[in-house]
Amino acid sequence: MRDGFDREYDRVLGTGADTDEIRHEAGLRPRKMEMFVGQDTVVKNLSVYVEAALRRGKPLDHVLLAGPPGLGKTSLALILAQELGTPIRTSSGPAIIRSGELSALLSDLQPGGLLFIDEIHRLSSVVEEVLYPAMEDFVLDVTVGQGPGAHSARVELPPFTLIGATTRAGLLTAPLRDRFGIVERLAFYSRQDLQQIILRAAARLAIEIVPQAADEVASRSRGTPRIALRLLRRLRDFADVETAGIVTMDLARRALSQLGVDDLGLDDLDRRLLQVIVENHGGGPVGLNTLAASLGEEVDTLEEVSEPFLIQIGFLERTSRGRVATKMAHEHLASLGDPPGGVLGT
Ligand SMILES: Nc1ncnc2c1ncn2[C@@H]1O[C@H](COP(=O)(O)OP(=O)(O)OP(=O)(O)O)[C@@H](O)[C@H]1O
Ligand SMILES: [Mg+2]
Repeated sequence: MRDGFDREYDRVLGTGADTDEIRHEAGLRPRKMEMFVGQDTVVKNLSVYVEAALRRGKPLDHVLLAGPPGLGKTSLALILAQELGTPIRTSSGPAIIRSGELSALLSDLQPGGLLFIDEIHRLSSVVEEVLYPAMEDFVLDVTVGQGPGAHSARVELPPFTLIGATTRAGLLTAPLRDRFGIVERLAFYSRQDLQQIILRAAARLAIEIVPQAADEVASRSRGTPRIALRLLRRLRDFADVETAGIVTMDLARRALSQLGVDDLGLDDLDRRLLQVIVENHGGGPVGLNTLAASLGEEVDTLEEVSEPFLIQIGFLERTSRGRVATKMAHEHLASLGDPPGGVLGT
């Protein structure tokens, strides 16, 4: 699926979803805008644009959803389809290899239909060029015939809406970015929002969890619904074995520490990243490539998964000379003493 991300899937706190999880998540996805917790501005904006498009009887403008993994981009795309009452086709940047494949997807859309392209920053430039006239004028430029007789022709497409999702908005080319009329960025969730997401999911999965325990899980979920839901499932396992199925505060604390989730929800990779900066590079600045090499991780994983959260909580700074661990990061590492073990391993 996402090459370079396999290692990440192994981590309890990894933000990527594995196959089992994708199936599981499908059942928990919010289906309506009002069921989507948090991201108030994004939800409000999108609701207005949907309503306006419906009133005008015109397709919604192209939408770009940007933000770290597991924050709800795919969920929002599916909600948009639901609210607009239109079918949605889904694909992803790495899956569309040849321009003909994209042309086929586009020609196959119904008038007003939605095309969702996940990881849109990973489209190749040849494929991307097919998108420009399609997005702008609803036409495809195709080559007709072969050899000296070949000429190009324009084929009309039904009006459609492209929804692009990306974990790396910065990697989008300017011409592609500029063709999205609507750009919404998802931010990490507050503890209260995550608590609500956990309690709702628990109700749907018939998991008994006390609100205080849900809050504890929320505070250790890296601001990410996907992680919150994953931790909830692990806690259910512990609860089934230890407390007759009830997730109490005490059980939550014990299980989370057993899982190697620290009180800020940092995962093993987050901690190792900070440790390498502090212990091997005197706190930084240190270049991203050097960090990736020391950690045996992909640069992409560090940039997409670890860094956004560490920067958000004020543990990491990006400077022109490299990454710097802040005073808060030093203090947190010192408070941990020996690196915690648990199933996260090293
Ligand atoms: N606001 C929310 N309210 C309730 N559940 C949510 C919310 N956002 C995300 N989730 C849940 O979190 C999980 C991950 O969400 P989703 O797959 O939409 O994230 P994503 O941004 O598309 O991630 P990726 O970048 O990995 O594709 C899903 O199970 C979804 O139901
Ligand atoms: Mg997604």
